[in-house]
Amino acid sequence: MTDATRSMKSMKLYHRVDRIHNELRARGIADDAPLSVADLSPFDHYHYHGTDAVDHAIAMLRLGTASRVLEIGSGIGGPARYAASKSGAHVTALELQPDLNQIAGELTRRCGLARQIRHQCGDILMDPVEAESFDALMSFLCFLHIPDRARLFRSAHRALKPGGRFYIEDLTRRREPSPMESEALAIKVQTPYLPTLEEYGRHLEEAGFVDVRLEDMTGPWATYTAERTEAFRRAHGRNLAVHGVEITEGLEDFYGTVAWLYADGLLGGARILATKPR
Ligand SMILES: C[S@@+](CC[C@H](N)C(=O)[O-])C[C@H]1O[C@@H](n2cnc3c(N)ncnc32)[C@H](O)[C@@H]1O
Repeated sequence: MTDATRSMKSMKLYHRVDRIHNELRARGIADDAPLSVADLSPFDHYHYHGTDAVDHAIAMLRLGTASRVLEIGSGIGGPARYAASKSGAHVTALELQPDLNQIAGELTRRCGLARQIRHQCGDILMDPVEAESFDALMSFLCFLHIPDRARLFRSAHRALKPGGRFYIEDLTRRREPSPMESEALAIKVQTPYLPTLEEYGRHLEEAGFVDVRLEDMTGPWATYTAERTEAFRRAHGRNLAVHGVEITEGLEDFYGTVAWLYADGLLGGARILATKPR
């Protein structure tokens, strides 16, 4: 693990990602048993609104069996597996953190999807894929971790074929943070920089994308994160039994921090669609 990936672990969503095995065991599924995408969907999406959000991306990107898709920041593989199985697309799932990438590959094999999904451990900032090799790009709640937007969007633009579409779900900033909010964002959410919705659109246009469509998701995402925190806290006893103290308290703190930053009026969110001109 590098220093950069080690510091990601102060965001408790990324700590002990093998906890998905605890959830599967709690359902009587053995560690080496075959899996379906539906078995995993409640636990393998690290973004908001789970498979509904990926269904929206599939429609916006018009994915089908001929599509080659790059997911940037694919976590333990939930969106990649769901998009591949639902649309028939071939997905390259790029993930920075080796432990997440390793679990993602293992779960994909157990779902019988290894011929359709390629898991690659790497950093989007290092141009890790061949130029103009994808019909579509998608990314869910990854870019909040990447302050160098010019380099990020240059790399994304390079990966996409002319005429290809780019779907993003990401956080935005609604106002200047207080010092306490800045610290919580930087450490517990690993988010050192956030643009406003308007700045986001400008950054994509500066990188050469056109027809940039921005949808403000702040209301639904504030509600989602508040309800997620509530539900996780209500299940405290069950979570202790399944995961133990460290994982349970870590996730309670992470979910609570994010819900607070939305409720405080600092965080916003957006669904974004952009196109690379022909
Ligand atoms: C909140 S998670 C979302 C994972 C997945 N998209 C999902 O929705 O389930 C964001 C992921 O982006 C990855 N990531 C962050 N910076 C990255 C980079 N520079 N290149 C590739 N992946 C990155 C993180 O390691 C993390 O797994």
